[in-house]
Amino acid sequence: MNILVNDDYASMSQQAAAIIEAHICNHERTVLGLATGSTPLGMYEALIEGHQTRGVSFKRTFTLNLDEYIGLQPSHPQSYHYYMQHHLFSKIDIPLHQTYLPNGTAQSLSDECSRYEQIIDEVGPPDIQVLGIGENGHIGFNEPGSDFSGTTHVIDLAPSTLKANARFFHTVDEVPNKAITMGIQSILKSKRILLLASGENKAWAVKKLMEKIIDDQFPASALHHHPDVTLVIDQKAYSQIQSDRG
Ligand code: PGA
Repeated sequence: MNILVNDDYASMSQQAAAIIEAHICNHERTVLGLATGSTPLGMYEALIEGHQTRGVSFKRTFTLNLDEYIGLQPSHPQSYHYYMQHHLFSKIDIPLHQTYLPNGTAQSLSDECSRYEQIIDEVGPPDIQVLGIGENGHIGFNEPGSDFSGTTHVIDLAPSTLKANARFFHTVDEVPNKAITMGIQSILKSKRILLLASGENKAWAVKKLMEKIIDDQFPASALHHHPDVTLVIDQKAYSQIQSDRG
């Protein structure tokens, strides 16, 4: 596991985008595994800038998102379909039929999980999977206690996740309490993983990850089973490791 520590959120975002841009520019076809949440927003802005100012084209890029809330229509402003459309897809030249997210309003959620896993296998695996990390160590919506051999599945969101995500809704009660998420095994199929973390609220999770103790109560620790993981973080997210080292 490599760790790249940047001064701040802006340089972290630029660095992550540069890694992705380099892959797209040097390959005929790129499959990206994408994440939502606050952390990758700056990276998406930097990718859009690359498209607008340097002519980076996403016409041969395919995307597979990690997760989606259950019960939110794609038009709901807090759905991850809406997020991706708004923060990335509508601002670059990616053909929309090359973008995939789990359908959180499918009639049969178990069929949807199988369908999505099949898509991951047919389109993917991602050349680069972008991950955030929850304050509780979740990756995607694989909450503490998740099975490391899990594929795409329905999950009950942890109370700490509902609380953390309430900032996007009017009240915590509006946060959907279930989601469809790629499983940890699905995530580990990716060829390369970039885990982004920014801010002091992630410093504990980053420190715990770097302790290299594999524990299903800390889902991100499953990444130690993957051969090519890079943490792209900022100084604040690194702060607890740094203070321990004196
Ligand atoms: P955040 O979420 O980027 O909004 O902090 C990350 C996560 O919960 O995985």
